[in-house]
Amino acid sequence: MHPVALPMQPTPTVLVVDDEASIVDALTKVLEKESLAVVTARNGHEALDVLRRQRIDVMVTDLRMPGMGGDDLLKAAKAIVPEVEVIVMTAYGTVESAVEAMKRGAYDFISKPLKRAQVVAAVRKALDKAALVAENSKLRAQLAAATYREIVGNSQVMRATLEVARQAANSTATVLLLGESGTGKELMARYIHAHSPRSQRSFIPVNCAALPESILESELFGHEKGAFTGAIRSREGRFAEAHTGTLFLDEIAEITQPVQVKLLRAVQEGEVEPVGGRTLKVDFRLVCATNRDLVEEVKAGSFREDLYYRINVIPIRMPPLRDRIEDVPLLAEHFLRVYANKHGKAVAQFTDEALHTMGNYGWPGNVRELENTVERAVVLCKGARIGAEDLPAELRDPQAPNGRQITFSVGTPIEEIERRMILETLKFTRGDKRLAADLLGIATRTIYRKLESGFVSVAEGERRAAPAVPGAPAAPDDVGDPDEVLH
Ligand SMILES: Nc1ncnc2c1ncn2[C@@H]1O[C@H](COP(=O)(O)OP(=O)(O)OP(=O)(O)O)[C@@H](O)[C@H]1O
Ligand SMILES: [Mg+2]
Repeated sequence: MHPVALPMQPTPTVLVVDDEASIVDALTKVLEKESLAVVTARNGHEALDVLRRQRIDVMVTDLRMPGMGGDDLLKAAKAIVPEVEVIVMTAYGTVESAVEAMKRGAYDFISKPLKRAQVVAAVRKALDKAALVAENSKLRAQLAAATYREIVGNSQVMRATLEVARQAANSTATVLLLGESGTGKELMARYIHAHSPRSQRSFIPVNCAALPESILESELFGHEKGAFTGAIRSREGRFAEAHTGTLFLDEIAEITQPVQVKLLRAVQEGEVEPVGGRTLKVDFRLVCATNRDLVEEVKAGSFREDLYYRINVIPIRMPPLRDRIEDVPLLAEHFLRVYANKHGKAVAQFTDEALHTMGNYGWPGNVRELENTVERAVVLCKGARIGAEDLPAELRDPQAPNGRQITFSVGTPIEEIERRMILETLKFTRGDKRLAADLLGIATRTIYRKLESGFVSVAEGERRAAPAVPGAPAAPDDVGDPDEVLH
């Protein structure tokens, strides 16, 4: 079978819902003449079935129908597919109900008897709006990815690392970022993308450890609708989203064997196979990262050797902060500016003693630990300067015992004990989730899941921002000008 070429621009699809066959037929003819794909439904339930099954850009529905009325359909449709734009049809002279529908999220209304020009104009406008919303959320994601933060550091080792990274950025060779937690691997991945010829294209990051095993495959490669239970609509995978751009696979050591096989094929052939779908050719640049020793993982049989060689084309090792301690003042001052600004505090500098304390510490959590330390000091600091006393105790006395203890009263809910235990262990490991998971004897994924569900929230700012929801419902003042259609 020949691979399908990307990108594919799907024909906009309109769903027409009315219990009157003549109206459905008339609308179908008008819209098909406009080269739009039309799907029809004779009642609310049928319409919801369609919405669950396939991608619909705009729904045109009657308000008064036996069974589920247009109002309820509107509510349910927005719940299933928030990005669908809805146009309601009203009988002549019942403007109130149309206004009500628009308050509930309808984009526009058209009044019966329908006029061809009016129908076409309303549908076109709604389609433009849908495209704009989709484009907006895509741009927002691209912007977030493109605004990478500056890589601070002037040490010999950091300069050499950046030099390699710039050279690598010019090619399309796969880069493997290695290094301890918090050394800046993700930052470096964004740096490489931003300095590559693909910088204007998408940067698509995927944290392989954060996704449940069952979802990772379809997340990466996509799926056809109906490929498995719950696959109610087909979904483009992250590979396809990264077409002509950069795909960043973070925590690559966490992917399971079956996904490793598909990944190998993607890297070798530039082809991805959506679950239950046809093979696609995708042009992506791959950057991977891990804080594990992949050679060990290969020896232990948990990571495929052939895949290891495929992704280990240009390895870049991010140096731990203790090996470039001369960067500490630079980084500390950089974070001081960032967080004083963010928290609106007039803290301008560190005391010599504070700089000395920071320079004598080993930073097991690397730059992330330094960043968190400075942010906390900025928030807590009362004067214009951060002193040693504003820094955590373990920095001032590196010998201080780290064995934290937690006490619980009898009868504390197990869930609360679990939550506190995970939280304290994460603080102890300075945000290193894998180490925390190892210490607690649970899977790294479990920690990610708990973090993501909000079950545990780490004060040190460890939680990643939630991705922007594509096609979020329109703001209420965004429903268009009703006067434009009402004459
Ligand atoms: N050289 C640097 N200059 C400025 N900020 C940095 C630098 N290195 C790391 N950071 C910051 O430190 C934090 C941790 O970096 P990042 O998430 O890239 O680390 P990582 O190696 O991916 O860690 P992990 O393995 O835990 O995922 C981020 O907020 C990042 O912006
Ligand atoms: Mg990372």
